[in-house]
Amino acid sequence: MSNNTDFRYNTGATKVPWAAVGENYNAADLMEVISFLMQGDGPEYEQAINAVYEQVKKLDAVSTPPGKLTTDKQVAAAEAACNEYLGTDSSTFVTNCTAGFEIAYKYAGIKEGDEVIVPAITFVATMAYPLAVGAKLVFADVDPRTLNMDPADVARKITPKTKMIVPVHIGGYPVDLDPIIELAREHNILVLEDAAHAFGAEYKGKKIGTIGDFAAYSFHEVKNITSFGEGGIVTTTIPGFGADMKRARFLGLDFGTTPIKDWLYNVTPIQGKEKPFVALNYSPTEIQGLGLRLQVARNEEIIAQRRRAAEYLNSRFEGNPAIIPQDLGNDDIKPTFHLYLLQIDPALAGGDVQTLKKKLEEKSVTTIPHFGPLYRFRVVTEMGYDPEEMAKTCPNCEEVFYKRFTHLPLYGLSDEQLEYMADAVLEAVAEMQAGK
Ligand SMILES: Cc1ncc(COP(=O)(O)O)c(C=O)c1O
Repeated sequence: MSNNTDFRYNTGATKVPWAAVGENYNAADLMEVISFLMQGDGPEYEQAINAVYEQVKKLDAVSTPPGKLTTDKQVAAAEAACNEYLGTDSSTFVTNCTAGFEIAYKYAGIKEGDEVIVPAITFVATMAYPLAVGAKLVFADVDPRTLNMDPADVARKITPKTKMIVPVHIGGYPVDLDPIIELAREHNILVLEDAAHAFGAEYKGKKIGTIGDFAAYSFHEVKNITSFGEGGIVTTTIPGFGADMKRARFLGLDFGTTPIKDWLYNVTPIQGKEKPFVALNYSPTEIQGLGLRLQVARNEEIIAQRRRAAEYLNSRFEGNPAIIPQDLGNDDIKPTFHLYLLQIDPALAGGDVQTLKKKLEEKSVTTIPHFGPLYRFRVVTEMGYDPEEMAKTCPNCEEVFYKRFTHLPLYGLSDEQLEYMADAVLEAVAEMQAGK
């Protein structure tokens, strides 16, 4: 038995087996799944779905159900696909990206009294674990051009208590990692990359997620690719820890060491940087594994399509000094174009981004509800952080969030929709400039 599977039952070919899967899914259940994933109405749809049902019933009569639904071969195949794509051997599939962070934070032994540097703008998932265990969050200001953590501000905010730095590749645009890694090495600090948006992004010829000590990607449904709505991959560059991450995902079950007397396995702690820790359970299902493997195979094409949409928007905004378009990257920086970062220069646009967002809403263009300054959320302020004091240490964050940026959607839009969105942005800015 390997440590890479959620082993419970499944006693195999015996006269009286104990199956791993209790109640299996039947043809009628499967049809519900198909109708959920492929929705529609009208006579043509009804005809097609009924025809599928007839075939599924025939298939049901001659097929056997899978022996396992939780972490096993499909999950391993998805991990192998990620390993090959990313150039690592440590991909560990977990329930979501936040679970991947938790494993990394536990390896670092983050606890009360420690400091963790996170960017001032990101999703709450980035900081949830250190906040939950009472560690001190230190908010690094952002680079106003990319919204990513500013390495110079990280350097200013490192103290002897800093245990971890967490760069977030916002919108899939790689953080300038070299100076951050250098600082981390100098001060014996671990780097956890929040690569939730950055599966497939590259920094100086390497895939994001293979550079810091840890990285976690999200396959939540809003990301570029998904594993049926939820899922994450965590990777590490710490020698030997890749194998331990598999056990850190599933309660520390250990088939590799001597089992306890008269039993099948042992349960061992996971060795962290300084101390061992107890593993919890973040096992994904085989269906998630299957879903991820299928979409990983399409990732490059998806990034290319998103890039084309971003290039189109940039070409439409070119020459308008009030609009600062998305940075498309260069030989060293290859983004995933998860979000289109639209910024304006308020002085030239005749107003700030709050006005622009209202105008876009009136024109029926969605602006993605983007990430706010973390230190303004109640979960942070009620832990004793003073938002105004924090804001003083993050002036760029305040300026870009309130005045300059929003995100636009990039994927699954028709040429007409993209054109409409570009027209709407240009019209909205023109109206603002005209004082309307
Ligand atoms: C920047 C960032 N980090 C982390 C996460 C958490 O991902 P998950 O929902 O897979 O835990 C998200 C999800 O939206 C995110 O946007």
